[in-house]
Order: sequence, then C-alpha cells, then structure tokens
Amino acid sequence: MARLIYSAIASLDGYVEDKQGEFDWAAPDDQVHAFVNDLERPIGTYLYGRRMYETMVFWETVSTSADQDAVTRDFAEIWRAAEKIVYSRTLQAPSSERTRIEREFDPAAIRRLKESSARDLTVGGAEFAGEAMAAGLVDECHLFLVPVVVGGGKRALPDDVRAQLELLDERCFRSGVVHLHYRLR
Ligand SMILES: NC(=O)c1ccc[n+]([C@@H]2O[C@H](COP(=O)([O-])OP(=O)(O)OC[C@H]3O[C@@H](n4cnc5c(N)ncnc54)[C@H](OP(=O)(O)O)[C@@H]3O)[C@@H](O)[C@H]2O)c1
Repeated sequence: MARLIYSAIASLDGYVEDKQGEFDWAAPDDQVHAFVNDLERPIGTYLYGRRMYETMVFWETVSTSADQDAVTRDFAEIWRAAEKIVYSRTLQAPSSERTRIEREFDPAAIRRLKESSARDLTVGGAEFAGEAMAAGLVDECHLFLVPVVVGGGKRALPDDVRAQLELLDERCFRSGVVHLHYRLR
C-alpha cells in the first residue's frame, strides 16, 4: 500500500505562515531544496488544500530554460509530472495539467487511493493535512524546522490531534534548518 506523507517547512515554534500570512522566511536554500526534490521525486500524487495549491501552482509556469538554476528546474519538472488532487469548495477550475478538484474530503476515497497507488502520495496545506491526520490517513511526516521564531500564525500541526511518532531520520543543514522524518504509529 502506498504511504500518505505530510511535509512542511515550519518555524521553530511550529508555524507554516506568520500572523501576516508571510512565509518568505521558510524559503529553502539550494541545499534544502535539493533534498526536498529527492523526497518529492518518487511521489505519484499530491493532495492539496486549495490555499497550498494556489501557492504551488507557480511551478506549472516557472521558466525551465537553461538560465534557471538546476534545483529550480528539477523541482518544476518533478511537480509537473505528478498527479494533483485539489480539495476546494470554491476553486472553479484547476490551472495546471494532471489536476482535478474534489469538493469534499472523503477519507474512504483517500484510503482506496492509497491501496490502489503504486507510488506514494503527499498531502499539503496545514489545514487540509490536519484533517487527513485527524482521520488517521497520514503515515509519515517530514518537518523542516527553520531557525526562526515567528510568534503565531498558521500551525504546521493540527490542534486536537494526538499522535505517537517514531523518529526515522534527522539531518541538519548548513542554514541551521533541521529535518525530522517521523512515522505515525
Ligand atoms: N511554510 C512554507 O514553506 C509554505 C510553503 C508554501 C505555502 N505555504 C502557505 O501555508 C499556507 C497553508 O494554507 P492553509 O493550511 O491555510 O490551507 P490549505 O490546507 O492549503 O487549504 C485550505 C483550503 O482547502 C480547502 N479544504 C480544506 N478542507 C476541505 C474539505 N474538508 N473539503 C473541501 N475543501 C477543503 C478549502 O478550500 P476552499 O476555501 O476553496 O473551499 C480551504 O480553505 C498557505 O498560505 C500557503 O501559501 C507555506
């Protein structure tokens, strides 16, 4: 069975965006970005909350010409090749290829998708990923903790969910970012 994986780049105090809705402090440098690319490479399908999709769809049109740096080109190609499912009650139409919209979150449908998928899936957008976690659908979690404290905003992990986690791997990067890879028990 394919795994459903939640990845987030968060401040040390656990936020994916600050109170102003900014997350420029989370932008990965080349070393972290290349590592993220390798994590995303085997993924077959991205499940997105609408807000995360609206950020990530940038990768559909970013230039992949030779003057673009290699890490950016690599991620654009990885992103474009994957299937995307966007959860939204408001989005009229997708603005990327290989993308469909789901109006309702149906845990049983996601379970079936995991069972039938040859490749792993990711879930993105803290709010939507929190619903998937609350429904017991998330198998693994990659947290990238950025050495900044922002004091509030959108939490990377949901309220009102309890989970036991097993640490599978960890790594420190030159920038001070720490990667933590967990399995949910
Ligand atoms: N830290 C970083 O590195 C980083 C990177 C990229 C982006 N971000 C930012 O992090 C933020 C994450 O956003 P978020 O956690 O607020 O939102 P999100 O989970 O990405 O999206 C929330 C939206 O998903 C849809 N949704 C959620 N539950 C649903 C359900 N049960 N059924 C149908 N649709 C459902 C709704 O869309 P509708 O309102 O359309 O119904 C809801 O408004 C964004 O601002 C993103 O830009 C951070």
